[in-house]
Amino acid sequence: MSTRKQKEIEQLKEEKAAVILAHYYVSPEVQAIADYIGDSYYLSKIAKELTNETIIFCGVTFMGESAKLLSPAKTVLMPSLTADCPMAHMVTYEEVAKARKEYEDLAVLCYINTTAEIKSWSDVCVTSSNAVEIARNLPNKNILFIPDKNLGAYVASQVPEKHFIFNAGHCPIHEEMLVNEITSKQKEYPAALLLVHPECNAQIRAKADYIGSTTGIITYASQSEAHAFIIATESGIDYVLKKENPAKDFYYPQTHPICAEMKKVTLDQIIHVLKTGENAIEVEASYFEAAAKTLMRMHEYAS
Ligand code: 13P
Ligand code: SF4
Repeated sequence: MSTRKQKEIEQLKEEKAAVILAHYYVSPEVQAIADYIGDSYYLSKIAKELTNETIIFCGVTFMGESAKLLSPAKTVLMPSLTADCPMAHMVTYEEVAKARKEYEDLAVLCYINTTAEIKSWSDVCVTSSNAVEIARNLPNKNILFIPDKNLGAYVASQVPEKHFIFNAGHCPIHEEMLVNEITSKQKEYPAALLLVHPECNAQIRAKADYIGSTTGIITYASQSEAHAFIIATESGIDYVLKKENPAKDFYYPQTHPICAEMKKVTLDQIIHVLKTGENAIEVEASYFEAAAKTLMRMHEYAS
């Protein structure tokens, strides 16, 4: 049953010919009014393909920036302009310049969870769903992977023929997840499979039955014959997991992994930006082109 706010959003969306995109980590009521829900890769792809002139991006800043970089003519409105991924800032220009000096054939792979400025210093962008494939397909032997040390270490383990250099960036939500909270769930539900996002720390990744992006986790759980799963990622994913698998059980670490930044997006803010056209995301002209090239290379390399 739709609420007054949901109806208002529907009406405004139609009036403005806008489309609403949402990441799996935003709150359930925001996912419920979205036209498209997905992981970072899917959302950047769909933002590029859609013909709507206005995109309402329910997620964190780097996601809106990515949509704008791929579709400069579109208006991308962020319901919350302060919703920002802390990891997206966790590398410096000096770290990148130092590695470039050290290795002649260096490729700088940057996770999509970065600012547009960091993308402009990099060669190819990746997401958790295509990082392994892209690292493998690059001609370069030496790869600087920024900023997530956990996703970087996971990719390196899958591409042993390449030499990887890392920096110390991480997602606080996945890095600080407690392995003993995972093992106690495993004791409680011994038949449950452990599905892990690659941003998780090494102790948790070592226990995983499956490691993959948020979409990867949802697809795995939906296709698996198992009935119970322990989920090691942000618990907003539960909305789609349950919707697509009403007969299956999903368990989370006792300290529920919640990204406070993603949860900043509210229905009231969506109504506000639809009404006013405020919070349009802009990318500074001095690095727009270089950042867009890095992002477009991902779409060329990824299948
Ligand atoms: P994916 O959407 O690529 O699974 O990444 C998760 C994430 O942390 C997004 O901020
Ligand atoms: Fe950033 Fe982690 Fe939140 Fe994703 S879950 S937006 S990586 S802080």
